Amino acid sequence: MTASMQPLSSVRYAVVFLLFFRIELIFGYDENTRTCPSPCTCFGDLLDCSRLKRRGIPESLPEWTVQLKLNNNELEAVPDFGPYAATITTLILTNNRIAKISLEQLRPLQGLDTLDLSNNNLVDIKADSFPALPLKNLIMNNNRISTLETNCFVNLSSTLQVLRLNRNRLSTLPVKIFQLPNLQHLELNRNRVRRVEGLTFHGLHALRSLKMQRNGISRLMDGAFWGLSNMEVLLTTNNLTEVSKGLALTAYAWEFCQKLSELDLSSNHLARLEESSFVGLSLLDELHIGNNRVSFIADGAFRGLSHLQMLDLQNNEISWTIEDMNGPFSALDKLRKLFLQGNQIRSVTKKSFSGLDTLEHLDLSNNAIMSVQGNAFIQMKKLEELHLNTTSLLCDCQLKWLPLWVAEQAFLPCVNASCAHPQMLKGKSVFTVSQEDFVCDDFPKPQITVQPETQSAIKGTNVTFVCSAASSSDSPMTFAWKKDNEVLNDAEIHNQAHVRAQGGAQGSETEVTEYTTTLRLRSVAFTSEGKYQCVISNHFGSSYSTKAKLIVNSK
Ligand SMILES: *[C@@H]1O[C@H](CO)[C@@H](O)[C@H](O)[C@H]1NC(C)=O
Ligand SMILES: *[C@@H]1O[C@H](CO)[C@@H](O)[C@H](O)[C@H]1NC(C)=O
Ligand SMILES: *[C@@H]1O[C@H](CO)[C@@H](O)[C@H](O)[C@H]1NC(C)=O
Ligand SMILES: *[C@@H]1O[C@H](CO)[C@@H](O)[C@H](O)[C@H]1NC(C)=O
Ligand SMILES: *[C@@H]1O[C@H](CO)[C@@H](O)[C@H](O)[C@H]1NC(C)=O
Repeated sequence: MTASMQPLSSVRYAVVFLLFFRIELIFGYDENTRTCPSPCTCFGDLLDCSRLKRRGIPESLPEWTVQLKLNNNELEAVPDFGPYAATITTLILTNNRIAKISLEQLRPLQGLDTLDLSNNNLVDIKADSFPALPLKNLIMNNNRISTLETNCFVNLSSTLQVLRLNRNRLSTLPVKIFQLPNLQHLELNRNRVRRVEGLTFHGLHALRSLKMQRNGISRLMDGAFWGLSNMEVLLTTNNLTEVSKGLALTAYAWEFCQKLSELDLSSNHLARLEESSFVGLSLLDELHIGNNRVSFIADGAFRGLSHLQMLDLQNNEISWTIEDMNGPFSALDKLRKLFLQGNQIRSVTKKSFSGLDTLEHLDLSNNAIMSVQGNAFIQMKKLEELHLNTTSLLCDCQLKWLPLWVAEQAFLPCVNASCAHPQMLKGKSVFTVSQEDFVCDDFPKPQITVQPETQSAIKGTNVTFVCSAASSSDSPMTFAWKKDNEVLNDAEIHNQAHVRAQGGAQGSETEVTEYTTTLRLRSVAFTSEGKYQCVISNHFGSSYSTKAKLIVNSK
């Protein structure tokens, strides 16, 4: 609409006038008089002199330049921008050959808000690189920066909000290097930081996200995240091998991250989650620990995660946590999604998921599950999605409930379950097996027949624990003993098998083999005290005995 087409009310004139006035203010030029220095192109307040191979960079900038692009120009230094340097707020210098930045070069840029120096040849950031500038965004990805000198960011401390240093060569981060109380986002992905010292991030009071993927970090020292009281997202995909109370990742590691809502520890080398590993993260929503090597989860490992909604443990080596632990996830009473696909879970019991009353999504696919106890999922009143794909099921009378329940809950689309045993049902989907064919003629999975007994012993004496199991299968049996949930690798163990016959269901004779395993502890000390348990396994699954206590007394 223009004034010549129809008369405008005075109000409209005022609006039009104000609009022009605003444009003047923002762009600082008049459409008619503005010149665009060739061979650059112009758009609004943007002067684009990129990809000119140095040829056509204007001697001095037009006074209206607010955003300036000089990327891909073979520049070796930050150029001199002449009298109007101070009007520039955004300066893009990516893909040049700048090896050094200095106080002198940057000082005229008194209005600079965003500086992108990615893809240059910077090797270090010296202490006197930055004058006091109103810089909010500083991007230096993909250089060769190996050193950040102490105090190098000190002149940006009152303004900087985003700092990206991805794909550089930083191997050490000096303690308290980031004294940037307004910084909200810090990215250090793909550097070479192996170890994060305590207080490294001290001074980042406003930080909301810290990204340190692919550094090969193997240790986070005590207090590594000290001072990050406002952080919401922390991503570390690295080489971490331990999350433990006393070791690499301590409870203190999180002590100052109370606002953290998402923690990503996936693709590390974590094998153990110790007790209270995540204490202090009471606002955490999502915890990603997928693609590690977790096999040990201590009692109380998830204690304190009272807000957690999503736990990703996919592609680890979890087995007994689900098969034998009593409510490993019971502290997570707000959990809605649990990912356990790609582990080594062979059986699911009614203790496995106790306490998970609010769970909506459970993924157990890609586990060779053989047995699922009736009512294993019964408390999950809100379960909407269950993923299960196994061809290893032991289709006996104890599994009768599964196809009925799956169909009733409408979980069919995500459940693919077929029998491995008995021979007659091998390869058949449980949904095509008729109810009367789920029978208990035999018991191929070992069943504990003799439990180890609690005992007290005098220090220095020898102690034995005995445990037996029976099975109708001749599949090879393996035996292990655990003390306080840890497998005893060098223990003195004796195993025996003896065959006995037993009446089968239809009066036929079923051959049953009974196995006995004996753990001998020589000259017990006070350190021998603990809870001992035998684990007897074959191709059809593992059976865990009860835990027998050993108490050691002095004479
Ligand atoms: C901070 O900036 C001032 C001038 O703007 C300069 O003289 C000083 O050397 C700078 N300090 C550091 C540590 O870069
Ligand atoms: C992770 O650690 C292993 C050995 O502990 C090493 O071979 C590998 O190079 C490390 N990876 C990275 C990215 O540092
Ligand atoms: C289960 O599904 C995964 C993909 O989700 C697949 O890789 C795997 O082979 C499947 N396993 C079986 C036994 O069907
Ligand atoms: C179930 O598994 C069979 C054999 O592994 C496969 O052919 C079929 O596509 C699977 N169905 C679903 C729904 O995943
Ligand atoms: C305990 O075992 C050791 C080693 O076999 C043996 O020498 C010792 O006599 C045993 N002690 C007792 C009290 O049986």
